Parts: sequence; C-alpha cells; structure tokens
Amino acid sequence: MAPRIGTVESRMHSLDAFAAAKLATLDAGNLRRRLIPTTRTSPAHVQRGDQTLISFSCNDYLGLAQDPRVKAAAISAIEHYGAGAGASRLVTGDHPLLGRLEARLARVKGTDAALVFGSGYLANIGVIPALVGAGDLVLLDELSHACMVSGARLSGARILTFAHNDIDQLAALLAAERGDSARALVLTERVFSMDGDQAPLPALLAIAQTYDAWTLVDDAHGLGVVTPDVHAPLELGTLSKALGGLGGYLCASAPVIELLKSRARSFVYATGLPPASAAAALAALDILEVEPERSARPLALARRFTTALGLAPAQSAIVPIHVGEATQALALSAALAEQGMLVVAIRPPTVPAGTARLRVAFSAAHDEADVDALVQALQHIGAVDAPSLEVAG
Ligand SMILES: Cc1ncc(COP(=O)(O)O)c(C=O)c1O
Repeated sequence: MAPRIGTVESRMHSLDAFAAAKLATLDAGNLRRRLIPTTRTSPAHVQRGDQTLISFSCNDYLGLAQDPRVKAAAISAIEHYGAGAGASRLVTGDHPLLGRLEARLARVKGTDAALVFGSGYLANIGVIPALVGAGDLVLLDELSHACMVSGARLSGARILTFAHNDIDQLAALLAAERGDSARALVLTERVFSMDGDQAPLPALLAIAQTYDAWTLVDDAHGLGVVTPDVHAPLELGTLSKALGGLGGYLCASAPVIELLKSRARSFVYATGLPPASAAAALAALDILEVEPERSARPLALARRFTTALGLAPAQSAIVPIHVGEATQALALSAALAEQGMLVVAIRPPTVPAGTARLRVAFSAAHDEADVDALVQALQHIGAVDAPSLEVAG
C-alpha cells in the first residue's frame, strides 16, 4: 500500500528515494565516497583488513601524530583537564593552554596575535564571512580548498575566480572590478592541497596591496614543511597536518583577532578546542623548533620521487600523479594497494572533472627505501612511464 501523504512513512520514502537517486548518480560517475576502516600502526604504516600498507596518504607530514612527546603532552592534559573544553571559549571553554598556543602561533607567523578554532575548516568558514559580506568582493584561486569556497559563499560577497596562480588575471580582475566594492579579499593557499605547488605569494601580495585588497593565505600544507618567503596579513592554517593533532588557527594583527572573537560564528558558537589538542600542538611546535632536519625530510623525499620519475621538482610534500578519469585513478589505487602501498585516488569534486589523480604525500616518517618501493610499484602497475629505475641518491 502506498504511504499516505504527510505520514512519517511518506516523508521517509521521499527522503530515501532522494538519497538513493543521488547515490546512483555518484555511482554512475564512480564518485561515491566510501569509508574504509584503517588503523595507523606506525607513523608510516596503516592496517586495512589483514593488510599492512605503507601509507602515502596521510597529511601527518612530520610523523608527529605518533610522536611520544606529542602523545605524552596530550595524555597529561587529558589527565589534568579532562577530555573536552565544556563550552564555547566565550562561555567557560577558554583554557589557558589555548592562550599559550595562540601566543606561540603568532610568534611562528610573526603576527601580533592568533585565534584558535576547532579545525582549519571551521577557521575558514568563520574568518571569511567575518571580514567580508554583501557588497564586497572575494577573489579566489580556482584550486582553493573547499572550505575557502564555503567561507566565501557564506559571506555573501561577490566571488570572482582567477586561474590557478595567474597573477596577471588577478591584477586584471582587481583593476576591472575592485572599484565597486567596499572591501576585497584575495584567497589562496601557500601549498595547494591536491597539486602540491606553491602560490607566488610575494607577487600576489604586492598586487593585492596595490588595490587595497586583503590577502588570506591558507597554510594548511605548508607549515612545518616549506619555508615561507613572505607572510600574508591573514595567515590561516591547521594543527592537523604537520603538527599531527587537531584544530585550526588564524594569525593576524591584534585588532583583526579581537574582531574575530566577536564575529567569527564558528568561533563564537562552537565548543572550544579540547586542552589536550592545544597541549599536543604546543609539543609539536617545540619539536619543529629544535628539529629543523625533520621539517626538511618530506620535501627531500618528494624530490627524490620526482627526480626518479622525471617529473617537475616537488615544491612540497605533495606530488600528484595525474590520471584523468576517476575510474582509472581508482583502479590504479587498488593496484598499488596490492603492492602494499596506500595512495588514495582523488576524484571530482575535490579536483576538477577530468583531472582525477593519485595524490602522493611524503612524510619525515618515510625512508628512502619507501620512496624507491613506491617508484617501482608505480612503474610495475603502469601508472607512470618507466624512464629509469635509477633513483636519485
Ligand atoms: C588547504 C586546506 N585548508 C583547510 C583544511 C581543513 O583543515 P582541517 O582538517 O583542520 O579542518 C584542509 C584539509 O584538508 C586543507 O587542505
């Protein structure tokens, strides 16, 4: 019997039908995402079912998520202060460790102040709408991360996209469109998350300044791995990649940070970061300071890899291997898993249609033999040409 309109059954029916139709569309394009239980068993290895894989798919670039010093700091904070913050920081969740972390991040970025958020995603969707809105202009690199796009959309500002790293197009857009808007904000990344290349920040900042446009740089994949040539007035990032934990931050001038404490909705209306996450990030920052050789490793390993494959020299810990179609990227990723390597396929909408890829992420926890094994596995499965099996020394 057909469910009656207005009953719970009919509402569930149309809801489930909607979900099933959407899933069928995703399946048709090989775009459905699936969760695969995966345990990290060491900084460079994961367990999936009965398989142990070398992981080239973690953003824990310095292997700090499993570092005994980072873990000890988090455990001690949990024992002293409990598991959670208990409330928004503006209510009762403002643990002193968060203030210490902010002072430390500001020092690292050379700004007056910083503000910590629950994640990098929350930082972007809080900061952008707090600074621009209707009547303003956002200029967005076309390869910017989804959370910058979300932040820009939430703001209600007019969004103009410029071609990836195309400074001339950015300048042309500013020249043509800046005049009508009260405020303009340029959004880009220091290291692009799915491409691994760097933004030309000195030139970009100079152009933005000429038009009194503010620049927000998302440094999620740069901190701890690449040495910045210049700092933007708004330096946003995450504690969840090279620092190995969880959380997000913005480093900026004192008045900007003060304003965000009242206006960034993902800060005001969200529970504070647990003290243990702040303690872990502080311990990780200590390690960055005293072990610069650790920070140099991911890029050195990525360069060994690009040299071996005859690719353009890596600019960060991330190296994409372009494949094209999602189906092919999935098949290559599965073939690598059979060789004992975890290299996840990245598909649209994370990357533009037709640019599915294998995204290889190197970590200080890998050794040279891991890199060489990956090169050989890629050649073995035919994912790359085999110009040479010689790997750079
Ligand atoms: C460029 C960029 N920004 C922000 C984020 C989000 O950071 P988080 O994982 O801390 O939410 C990511 C995460 O993948 C990212 O790649």
